[in-house]
Amino acid sequence: ELPFAENYKIKMVQRIYRSTRQQRQKWVEEAHYNLFNLRSDQVFIDLLTDSGTGSMSDTQWAAMMIGDESYAGSDSYHVLHQVVSNIFGFDYVLPTHQGRAAENVLFSVLVKSGDFVPGNSFFDTTRGHIEYRNGKAVDCTISEAFNTTIEHPFKGNIDLKKLETVMSMYSKKHIPMIIVTITCNTLGGQPVSMENLREVKKVAEKYGVRVIYDSCRFAENAYFIKTREDGYRDVTIREIVREMFSYADGMTMSGKKDGLVNIGGFIALREKSLFDECSYFIIMFEGFTTYGGMSGRDMNAMAVGLEEVTTFEYLENRIKQVAFLGKKLQDYGIPLQLPIGGHAVYIDAKRFLPNVPKEEYVAQTLGVELYVEAGVRGVEVGTLMADRDPETKENRYPEVEFLRLAVPRRVYTNDHMHYVVIALKNIFHRRREIIHGFSIVKEAPILRHFTIQLEKI
Ligand code: F0G
Repeated sequence: ELPFAENYKIKMVQRIYRSTRQQRQKWVEEAHYNLFNLRSDQVFIDLLTDSGTGSMSDTQWAAMMIGDESYAGSDSYHVLHQVVSNIFGFDYVLPTHQGRAAENVLFSVLVKSGDFVPGNSFFDTTRGHIEYRNGKAVDCTISEAFNTTIEHPFKGNIDLKKLETVMSMYSKKHIPMIIVTITCNTLGGQPVSMENLREVKKVAEKYGVRVIYDSCRFAENAYFIKTREDGYRDVTIREIVREMFSYADGMTMSGKKDGLVNIGGFIALREKSLFDECSYFIIMFEGFTTYGGMSGRDMNAMAVGLEEVTTFEYLENRIKQVAFLGKKLQDYGIPLQLPIGGHAVYIDAKRFLPNVPKEEYVAQTLGVELYVEAGVRGVEVGTLMADRDPETKENRYPEVEFLRLAVPRRVYTNDHMHYVVIALKNIFHRRREIIHGFSIVKEAPILRHFTIQLEKI
């Protein structure tokens, strides 16, 4: 049988820069050991995020040329509207400049002080937008997801018993929605099964509460349903997506991931009344309802991106590259969240660096080590990202501390992946000598990891 290979060739390239360990040591110190503070030319391979970092296709670039920049009633809005309605089955669409903007608008309508929002593990901006309104995000993910060695095929699933408990504990008045994040980023790009989506909807209906999907990696989720769940092998990605969203009342979307664009997002809804309420906030925060913070050309590119991302050929190539990276790391014994996720490999930092105390930010320590070793930038998904408890102001130590290596779409080759693997192997060999991490010098009250300043212990 012939081996697997990418279904595209490269038409334009961007130079990237290697550096010396000495340079990187100086740069990371100047960045206060916060990898977000590095300049991109100080990074050789950038796995900070898969968000907005992908390559667009020639078809997307062509669509940009014919974007309509009308303030109101843009033709590009209608193109986007039609694609979104076809793919997801929602009639009401509001563009936003990115995913968190969609959260900001929708939650401005839905979330009130004292509300509870159950779901699987929330992304930081989603949780931030709930907590900012004095609501509480309640994590109902299945417990298998917190043990990185268990190979559950759908670690993003919601534990229906935990969900029932939350739903029955509070009045429906205080539960504006259930949010299902597909795939679940915080726990490793882990998918949610179709069966679970169906069951969540049943619970929601029983209590008369809406279900909203935080959808930025919806297509990767559909790929996992096709390849892992009984009964879906011969169903197309488009059909799977349509069924997934038939169990939701609306969605927030960051187009920067499975929209295959560098900027953009949207809200899509079934209810006209909710759409009308959101429209007021769109106009206030984002722009008129037919562009909401996006240019016409960007809406065109996102429309084409949504078409491309919902093909099996695209997804197979994408997920297999991430799996390639994960498999090679596993071969060296490096502890990962298993199974390997859709958009990233998540290293279990506490198992990787057993001698660094949790109070010294283990995953951040590993992230800085990797940067200094090889100029590779990952991101901490651990205690720094978890923020402090809004009431006690104490650090919230998550059950698992991850260093996430997110793979941008259609950007790096497998040789780049191999380079990352060897860098981590080198650190893994000397892991027992690494015994100290960092203390915090300065931090923001919310979403602190973006701007935090650290010093070495
Ligand atoms: N929801 C999820 C699950 C996300 O992963 C993100 C962004 C957002 C919402 C917000 O979207 O960035 O367009 O405002 N995740 C990026 C990441 C930043 O690196 O995982 P945004």
